[in-house]
Amino acid sequence: MVKICCIGAGYVGGPTMAVIALKCPNVQVTVVDIAEPRINAWNSGTLPIYEPGLDDVVKQCRGKNLFFSTEVEKHVAESDIIFVSVNTPTKTQGLGAGKAADLTYWESAARMIADVSKSDKIVVEKSTVPVKTAEAIERILTHNKKGINFTILSNPEFLAEGTAIQDLFNPDRVLIGGRETPEGQKAINALRDVYANWVPKERILCTNLWSAELSKLAANAFLAQRISSVNAMSALCESTGADVSQVSHSIGTDSRVGPKFLNASVGFGGSCFQKDILNLVYICECNGLPEVANYWKQVVKVNDYQKSRFVNRVVSSMFNTVSSKKIAILGFAFKKDTGDTRETPAIDVCKGLLGDKARLSIFDPQVTEDQILKDLSMKKFDKDHPSHLQPASPTSIKQVSIVGDAYEATKDSHGICILTEWDEFKKLDYQKVFDSMQKPAFVFDGRNIVDADKLRKIGFIVYCIGKPLDPWLKDMPAVA
Ligand code: NAD
Ligand code: UDX
Repeated sequence: MVKICCIGAGYVGGPTMAVIALKCPNVQVTVVDIAEPRINAWNSGTLPIYEPGLDDVVKQCRGKNLFFSTEVEKHVAESDIIFVSVNTPTKTQGLGAGKAADLTYWESAARMIADVSKSDKIVVEKSTVPVKTAEAIERILTHNKKGINFTILSNPEFLAEGTAIQDLFNPDRVLIGGRETPEGQKAINALRDVYANWVPKERILCTNLWSAELSKLAANAFLAQRISSVNAMSALCESTGADVSQVSHSIGTDSRVGPKFLNASVGFGGSCFQKDILNLVYICECNGLPEVANYWKQVVKVNDYQKSRFVNRVVSSMFNTVSSKKIAILGFAFKKDTGDTRETPAIDVCKGLLGDKARLSIFDPQVTEDQILKDLSMKKFDKDHPSHLQPASPTSIKQVSIVGDAYEATKDSHGICILTEWDEFKKLDYQKVFDSMQKPAFVFDGRNIVDADKLRKIGFIVYCIGKPLDPWLKDMPAVA
């Protein structure tokens, strides 16, 4: 029986390994982590992450060929294939701070693998890493010359949160990069055999190591670039009377462009896009390519601009001040169907409104009070480090209350900001919401999910990203 071990039981390690276990009953899969609470949760009835369909997959294999454990060294030593799926956050200090990937967790995992291994291993980079990381990892693995062969592969993960299980069941492609040597090719074949249990052969792409590593950064940069492009257009739409949804549809019907990832929003979030683009920028700079670096940097700058443009719109619409006004924040996760808040635009929007002294009443169906308070008190980039290294969350923040439903959040408020596209926000009884609010009652839809005409008929003043402006908003002072 092939034994697989995955170091890192997070958003990637947990779901990916659960699906491998489900699809490969002849493979024994153990997911290990240094965070005991996380492993306990994986072994309990309440998994540590919310992901549609995940519970069912875990229930089918846990205890059969899927295990979760904190005995990291033991399981690494016993395995044939070791996936490393630890955090690779943006560095917060030192050389490359604010851009480069922090490989501390990766390096410590690699050193541990080198120290405890007693047989040959295939070591798979599952984390997103800078191009050429495999070379450094190879050096670490072989520093302890014990006659053990380590073959390194790059197998970046392309799942998106909220749809992880369907992405893993039916991936557009699986990418495996390896050395162009007989050992490298043998390792590629071994990993290809695992995926071939459910992924059609033509969707398993095999490349050299550096192409696989760079493809992951490039894929995220391209996806994020589409969102920043449409968000840049949304600003122009608001100034000209064009409608960004119509513009997106028009350009997306060109088969060369395609319709996906063209939804204007308050900004992209998530643990990957910003981190991976900043990493790409840093790699370009290190390789003497400042023009290329500046091109990609602009994608993050436009995203920051979109978030601050939204805050400015809220403040300027409400008579240029939100001081002491109650504002309802509907949605805090970075997208629907996840409880993940890493780099969610809600953090910047809330901080912006708090900077203008608003009172915030926040509701998200999946994000806990503790998490929201932590996010609003934490420094940029601290978030993606392992939870045991993060500061404790405060018990309260002045002017912020976290509530249990959308009606409570909106009651007595002056305005509503929709920051996550949860389906339940589309179905609210907006007449009831309107009746309970201060007047004039504003809705700022950062995800373009409400029926603006219907809301205007009720009496709301409505702002939708990139849509023709409400007459009220047009008369307001220009937004920076
Ligand atoms: P995560 O924070 O959810 O999980 C990482 C886990 O690794 C944590 O539980 C942490 O405790 C553990 N860990 C860190 N160092 C360890 C060590 N030395 N030994 C054992 N465990 C250790 O992160 P994630 O979202 O799963 O991301 C992991 C990697 O996958 C990152 O490189 C990320 O860029 C990449 N990625 C993420 C996504 C996504 O949607 N989240 C998608 C594709 C790729
Ligand atoms: C992304 C990539 O899609 C995935 O392939 C990679 O493995 C990890 O990073 P994820 O961050 O989980 O996945 O979600 P994604 O669906 O890409 O959304 C990222 C952000 O962009 C979210 O905040 C989302 O709301 C936003 N978005 C997405 C838009 O604003 N407009 C769009 O059209 C699409």
